[in-house]
Amino acid sequence: MTKVLIDCDPGIDDALALALAAGTSLPLAGITTVGGNVGLGLTTANALALREFLDLGDVPVVAGCSGAIIRGPIDAAEVHGTSGIGDVVLPPATRPVHEGHAVDFIIETLKASPGEITLVATGPLTNIALAVRREPRVAEWVRDFVIMGGSYTRGNTNPAAEFNILTDPEAAAIVFGAGWTVTMVGLDVTLQALVTAPILDEMRGLGRLSELLVPACQYYGVVTADGGPALHDAVALAHVLDPSLLTLTPAAVDVETAGVHTAGMTVVDFRLRGRSPNALVATGVDVAGFWKLMLGAYRRLGERLG
Ligand code: BDR
Ligand code: CA
Repeated sequence: MTKVLIDCDPGIDDALALALAAGTSLPLAGITTVGGNVGLGLTTANALALREFLDLGDVPVVAGCSGAIIRGPIDAAEVHGTSGIGDVVLPPATRPVHEGHAVDFIIETLKASPGEITLVATGPLTNIALAVRREPRVAEWVRDFVIMGGSYTRGNTNPAAEFNILTDPEAAAIVFGAGWTVTMVGLDVTLQALVTAPILDEMRGLGRLSELLVPACQYYGVVTADGGPALHDAVALAHVLDPSLLTLTPAAVDVETAGVHTAGMTVVDFRLRGRSPNALVATGVDVAGFWKLMLGAYRRLGERLG
Protein backbone atom coordinates (compact mmCIF):
# COMPACT_ATOMS: atom_id res chain seq x y z
CA MET A 1 0.00 0.00 0.00
CA THR A 2 1.30 3.43 -0.97
CA LYS A 3 2.33 5.80 1.83
CA VAL A 4 0.18 8.90 2.16
CA LEU A 5 1.01 12.42 3.25
CA ILE A 6 -2.19 14.23 4.29
CA ASP A 7 -2.36 18.02 4.20
CA CYS A 8 -5.52 19.03 6.07
CA ASP A 9 -7.48 21.55 8.12
CA PRO A 10 -9.46 19.50 10.66
CA GLY A 11 -12.36 20.13 10.27
CA ILE A 12 -15.09 17.56 10.92
CA ASP A 13 -14.77 15.72 7.61
CA ASP A 14 -10.96 15.93 7.77
CA ALA A 15 -11.21 14.26 11.18
CA LEU A 16 -13.46 11.54 9.80
CA ALA A 17 -11.00 11.03 6.93
CA LEU A 18 -8.19 10.59 9.47
CA ALA A 19 -10.39 8.02 11.21
CA LEU A 20 -10.66 6.17 7.89
CA ALA A 21 -6.86 6.16 7.63
CA ALA A 22 -6.59 4.84 11.19
CA GLY A 23 -9.17 2.12 10.61
CA THR A 24 -7.45 0.85 7.48
CA SER A 25 -3.95 1.14 8.95
CA LEU A 26 -3.03 3.23 5.91
CA PRO A 27 0.69 3.98 6.19
CA LEU A 28 1.04 7.73 6.77
CA ALA A 29 4.21 9.68 5.98
CA GLY A 30 2.90 12.72 7.84
CA ILE A 31 -0.01 15.00 8.60
CA THR A 32 0.55 18.63 7.67
CA THR A 33 -1.88 21.33 8.70
CA VAL A 34 -3.10 24.53 7.13
CA GLY A 35 -5.44 27.27 8.25
CA GLY A 36 -8.85 26.75 6.67
CA ASN A 37 -12.01 25.60 8.39
CA VAL A 38 -10.63 27.32 11.49
CA GLY A 39 -7.30 28.98 12.23
CA LEU A 40 -3.98 27.14 12.03
CA GLY A 41 -3.59 26.91 15.81
CA LEU A 42 -6.87 25.02 16.07
CA THR A 43 -6.41 22.81 12.99
CA THR A 44 -3.00 21.81 14.34
CA ALA A 45 -4.32 21.21 17.87
CA ASN A 46 -7.11 19.10 16.39
CA ALA A 47 -4.67 17.07 14.29
CA LEU A 48 -2.50 16.45 17.35
CA ALA A 49 -5.48 15.42 19.48
CA LEU A 50 -6.80 13.17 16.69
CA ARG A 51 -3.40 11.49 16.25
CA GLU A 52 -3.63 10.26 19.82
CA PHE A 53 -7.38 9.63 19.99
CA LEU A 54 -7.33 7.61 16.75
CA ASP A 55 -4.17 5.74 17.71
CA LEU A 56 -2.25 6.95 14.66
CA GLY A 57 1.09 6.20 16.29
CA ASP A 58 3.98 8.57 15.94
CA VAL A 59 3.18 9.96 12.51
CA PRO A 60 4.61 13.51 12.45
CA VAL A 61 2.10 16.37 12.64
CA VAL A 62 3.62 19.49 11.10
CA ALA A 63 2.06 22.97 11.07
CA GLY A 64 2.02 24.99 7.87
CA CYS A 65 0.55 28.22 6.55
CA SER A 66 -1.93 30.15 8.60
CA GLY A 67 -3.63 31.90 5.71
CA ALA A 68 -3.90 32.34 1.98
CA ILE A 69 -0.95 33.56 -0.10
CA ILE A 70 -2.61 36.87 -0.97
CA ARG A 71 -6.17 37.10 0.32
CA GLY A 72 -7.52 37.81 3.74
CA PRO A 73 -8.84 35.01 5.92
CA ILE A 74 -12.17 33.26 5.57
CA ASP A 75 -13.17 30.27 7.64
CA ALA A 76 -15.95 27.73 8.00
CA ALA A 77 -16.46 27.90 11.77
CA GLU A 78 -20.20 28.26 11.22
CA VAL A 79 -20.14 24.76 9.70
CA HIS A 80 -17.42 23.04 11.76
CA GLY A 81 -17.85 24.94 15.06
CA THR A 82 -15.43 27.39 16.62
CA SER A 83 -13.10 24.53 17.61
CA GLY A 84 -13.24 22.97 14.14
CA ILE A 85 -14.70 19.64 15.29
CA GLY A 86 -18.19 20.69 16.31
CA ASP A 87 -19.02 20.12 19.95
CA VAL A 88 -16.70 17.12 20.31
CA VAL A 89 -14.15 17.61 23.07
CA LEU A 90 -11.16 15.34 22.59
CA PRO A 91 -8.55 14.81 25.30
CA PRO A 92 -5.82 17.37 24.64
CA ALA A 93 -2.72 15.99 22.98
CA THR A 94 0.16 14.95 25.19
CA ARG A 95 2.76 14.88 22.39
CA PRO A 96 4.01 18.00 20.60
CA VAL A 97 3.89 19.20 17.05
CA HIS A 98 6.86 18.25 14.86
CA GLU A 99 9.49 20.95 14.51
CA GLY A 100 9.72 22.91 11.28
CA HIS A 101 7.26 24.06 8.66
CA ALA A 102 4.85 21.95 6.63
CA VAL A 103 6.13 23.34 3.32
CA ASP A 104 9.67 22.12 4.10
CA PHE A 105 8.31 18.82 5.41
CA ILE A 106 6.33 18.19 2.22
CA ILE A 107 9.38 18.90 0.05
CA GLU A 108 11.79 16.83 2.15
CA THR A 109 9.42 13.90 2.53
CA LEU A 110 8.68 13.61 -1.19
CA LYS A 111 12.34 14.14 -2.06
CA ALA A 112 13.39 11.30 0.24
CA SER A 113 11.05 8.76 -1.43
CA PRO A 114 10.52 9.73 -5.07
CA GLY A 115 7.61 7.93 -6.71
CA GLU A 116 6.45 6.38 -3.46
CA ILE A 117 4.24 8.86 -1.64
CA THR A 118 0.69 9.92 -2.48
CA LEU A 119 -0.15 13.45 -1.40
CA VAL A 120 -3.75 14.04 -0.35
CA ALA A 121 -4.90 17.61 0.31
CA THR A 122 -8.19 18.13 2.11
CA GLY A 123 -7.87 21.81 2.93
CA PRO A 124 -6.94 25.05 1.14
CA LEU A 125 -3.96 24.48 -1.15
CA THR A 126 -1.61 27.08 0.37
CA ASN A 127 1.04 24.65 1.70
CA ILE A 128 1.07 22.63 -1.52
CA ALA A 129 1.37 25.72 -3.72
CA LEU A 130 4.32 27.06 -1.75
CA ALA A 131 6.00 23.64 -1.78
CA VAL A 132 5.70 23.26 -5.53
CA ARG A 133 6.80 26.87 -6.11
CA ARG A 134 9.88 26.46 -3.93
CA GLU A 135 10.71 23.04 -5.34
CA PRO A 136 9.02 22.29 -8.68
CA ARG A 137 10.37 18.71 -8.64
CA VAL A 138 7.77 17.95 -5.98
CA ALA A 139 5.45 17.44 -8.96
CA GLU A 140 7.78 14.71 -10.29
CA TRP A 141 8.54 13.07 -6.94
CA VAL A 142 4.94 12.55 -5.92
CA ARG A 143 3.34 9.22 -6.74
CA ASP A 144 -0.17 10.62 -6.99
CA PHE A 145 -1.75 13.88 -5.96
CA VAL A 146 -5.37 13.91 -4.84
CA ILE A 147 -7.38 16.88 -3.60
CA MET A 148 -10.79 17.36 -2.13
CA GLY A 149 -11.77 20.61 -3.75
CA GLY A 150 -13.54 22.34 -6.58
CA SER A 151 -16.44 21.20 -8.68
CA TYR A 152 -17.71 21.42 -12.24
CA THR A 153 -21.37 21.81 -11.37
CA ARG A 154 -21.74 24.16 -8.39
CA GLY A 155 -20.07 25.79 -5.41
CA ASN A 156 -20.89 25.46 -1.74
CA THR A 157 -19.51 28.59 -0.04
CA ASN A 158 -21.08 30.56 -2.88
CA PRO A 159 -22.75 29.50 -6.15
CA ALA A 160 -19.45 29.42 -8.03
CA ALA A 161 -16.80 28.21 -5.60
CA GLU A 162 -16.02 25.34 -3.28
CA PHE A 163 -14.57 26.29 0.12
CA ASN A 164 -11.02 24.88 -0.21
CA ILE A 165 -10.45 26.56 -3.57
CA LEU A 166 -12.21 29.80 -2.60
CA THR A 167 -10.06 30.16 0.51
CA ASP A 168 -6.88 30.44 -1.58
CA PRO A 169 -7.62 30.65 -5.31
CA GLU A 170 -4.09 31.81 -6.17
CA ALA A 171 -2.65 28.75 -4.45
CA ALA A 172 -5.09 26.51 -6.30
CA ALA A 173 -4.13 28.14 -9.62
CA ILE A 174 -0.44 27.44 -8.89
CA VAL A 175 -1.22 23.85 -7.95
CA PHE A 176 -3.29 23.12 -11.07
CA GLY A 177 -0.51 24.65 -13.20
CA ALA A 178 2.38 22.76 -11.63
CA GLY A 179 2.79 20.18 -14.39
CA TRP A 180 1.39 17.18 -12.54
CA THR A 181 -1.98 15.50 -12.80
CA VAL A 182 -4.32 16.63 -10.05
CA THR A 183 -6.96 14.10 -9.10
CA MET A 184 -9.81 16.45 -8.27
CA VAL A 185 -12.44 15.01 -5.97
CA GLY A 186 -15.00 17.78 -5.98
CA LEU A 187 -18.46 18.52 -4.73
CA ASP A 188 -19.95 16.78 -7.77
CA VAL A 189 -19.20 13.44 -6.14
CA THR A 190 -18.68 14.28 -2.47
CA LEU A 191 -22.21 15.66 -2.16
CA GLN A 192 -23.42 12.12 -2.84
CA ALA A 193 -21.54 10.63 0.14
CA LEU A 194 -24.13 11.57 2.75
CA VAL A 195 -24.35 10.43 6.35
CA THR A 196 -27.95 9.16 6.45
CA ALA A 197 -29.81 7.91 9.53
CA PRO A 198 -29.02 4.22 8.82
CA ILE A 199 -25.33 5.08 8.47
CA LEU A 200 -25.37 7.12 11.67
CA ASP A 201 -26.94 4.12 13.40
CA GLU A 202 -24.01 2.00 12.21
CA MET A 203 -21.66 4.53 13.82
CA ARG A 204 -23.28 4.05 17.20
CA GLY A 205 -22.07 1.23 19.39
CA LEU A 206 -18.43 1.60 18.35
CA GLY A 207 -17.29 2.44 21.86
CA ARG A 208 -15.00 5.45 22.26
CA LEU A 209 -14.92 6.02 18.52
CA SER A 210 -18.68 6.69 18.51
CA GLU A 211 -18.05 9.60 20.85
CA LEU A 212 -16.25 11.31 17.96
CA LEU A 213 -18.21 10.04 14.96
CA VAL A 214 -21.80 10.49 16.09
CA PRO A 215 -21.76 14.02 17.53
CA ALA A 216 -19.40 15.21 14.79
CA CYS A 217 -21.77 14.03 12.06
CA GLN A 218 -24.82 15.45 13.87
CA TYR A 219 -23.09 18.80 14.26
CA TYR A 220 -22.09 18.80 10.59
CA GLY A 221 -25.65 18.58 9.32
CA VAL A 222 -29.17 17.39 9.90
CA VAL A 223 -29.29 13.63 9.44
CA THR A 224 -32.47 12.20 7.95
CA ALA A 225 -33.44 8.83 6.49
CA ASP A 226 -31.96 9.65 3.10
CA GLY A 227 -30.10 12.91 3.61
CA GLY A 228 -27.42 14.40 5.81
CA PRO A 229 -23.97 15.96 5.80
CA ALA A 230 -21.44 15.02 3.13
CA LEU A 231 -18.08 13.64 4.27
CA HIS A 232 -16.17 15.39 1.49
CA ASP A 233 -12.60 14.79 2.65
CA ALA A 234 -13.13 11.12 3.39
CA VAL A 235 -14.10 10.55 -0.26
CA ALA A 236 -10.69 11.80 -1.41
CA LEU A 237 -8.89 9.46 0.97
CA ALA A 238 -11.21 6.57 0.11
CA HIS A 239 -10.10 6.93 -3.51
CA VAL A 240 -6.51 6.20 -2.46
CA LEU A 241 -7.61 3.11 -0.57
CA ASP A 242 -9.88 1.83 -3.36
CA PRO A 243 -9.44 3.52 -6.75
CA SER A 244 -12.45 1.62 -8.12
CA LEU A 245 -14.84 3.81 -6.08
CA LEU A 246 -14.53 6.88 -8.31
CA THR A 247 -14.95 7.40 -12.03
CA LEU A 248 -12.23 9.80 -13.19
CA THR A 249 -12.44 11.85 -16.38
CA PRO A 250 -9.46 13.75 -17.87
CA ALA A 251 -9.99 17.50 -18.06
CA ALA A 252 -8.21 20.84 -18.36
CA VAL A 253 -8.90 22.74 -15.15
CA ASP A 254 -8.32 26.45 -14.59
CA VAL A 255 -8.95 28.34 -11.39
CA GLU A 256 -10.69 31.70 -11.62
CA THR A 257 -8.68 34.27 -9.66
CA ALA A 258 -10.04 37.51 -11.10
CA GLY A 259 -13.81 37.18 -11.18
CA VAL A 260 -15.84 39.51 -8.99
CA HIS A 261 -18.49 36.85 -8.39
CA THR A 262 -16.57 33.76 -9.50
CA ALA A 263 -13.17 33.87 -7.74
CA GLY A 264 -12.27 30.37 -6.63
CA MET A 265 -14.35 28.68 -9.31
CA THR A 266 -12.78 25.64 -10.98
CA VAL A 267 -13.39 25.96 -14.70
CA VAL A 268 -13.36 22.37 -15.92
CA ASP A 269 -13.06 21.65 -19.63
CA PHE A 270 -13.73 18.01 -20.45
CA ARG A 271 -13.49 18.80 -24.16
CA LEU A 272 -9.84 19.85 -23.73
CA ARG A 273 -9.87 21.92 -26.96
CA GLY A 274 -6.32 20.99 -27.90
CA ARG A 275 -4.92 21.25 -24.38
CA SER A 276 -3.36 18.40 -22.45
CA PRO A 277 -5.33 17.40 -19.37
CA ASN A 278 -3.91 18.65 -16.06
CA ALA A 279 -6.50 16.83 -13.97
CA LEU A 280 -8.48 13.67 -13.52
CA VAL A 281 -11.84 14.89 -12.32
CA ALA A 282 -14.12 12.63 -10.30
CA THR A 283 -17.39 12.34 -12.20
CA GLY A 284 -18.95 9.33 -10.52
CA VAL A 285 -18.86 7.62 -7.13
CA ASP A 286 -19.90 4.19 -5.91
CA VAL A 287 -21.73 5.43 -2.81
CA ALA A 288 -22.50 1.95 -1.43
CA GLY A 289 -18.86 0.93 -1.91
CA PHE A 290 -17.68 4.09 -0.17
CA TRP A 291 -19.79 3.39 2.91
CA LYS A 292 -18.76 -0.26 2.94
CA LEU A 293 -15.13 0.85 3.10
CA MET A 294 -15.83 3.55 5.70
CA LEU A 295 -17.95 1.48 8.05
CA GLY A 296 -15.63 -1.52 7.81
CA ALA A 297 -12.72 0.73 8.78
CA TYR A 298 -14.68 2.34 11.60
CA ARG A 299 -15.73 -1.05 12.98
CA ARG A 300 -12.13 -2.26 13.06
CA LEU A 301 -10.95 0.97 14.64
CA GLY A 302 -13.80 0.90 17.17
CA GLU A 303 -12.71 -2.56 18.30
CA ARG A 304 -9.13 -1.42 18.61
CA LEU A 305 -9.93 1.70 20.62
CA GLY A 306 -12.35 -0.07 22.95
C1 BDR B 1 -14.36 21.24 2.09
O1 BDR B 1 -14.40 22.44 2.83
C2 BDR B 1 -14.20 22.19 4.19
O2 BDR B 1 -15.10 22.92 4.95
C3 BDR B 1 -14.30 20.71 4.38
O3 BDR B 1 -13.44 20.27 5.41
C4 BDR B 1 -13.91 20.15 3.04
O4 BDR B 1 -12.52 19.99 2.95
C5 BDR B 1 -15.72 21.01 1.46
O5 BDR B 1 -16.04 22.07 0.61
CA1 CA C 1 -11.09 20.00 4.94
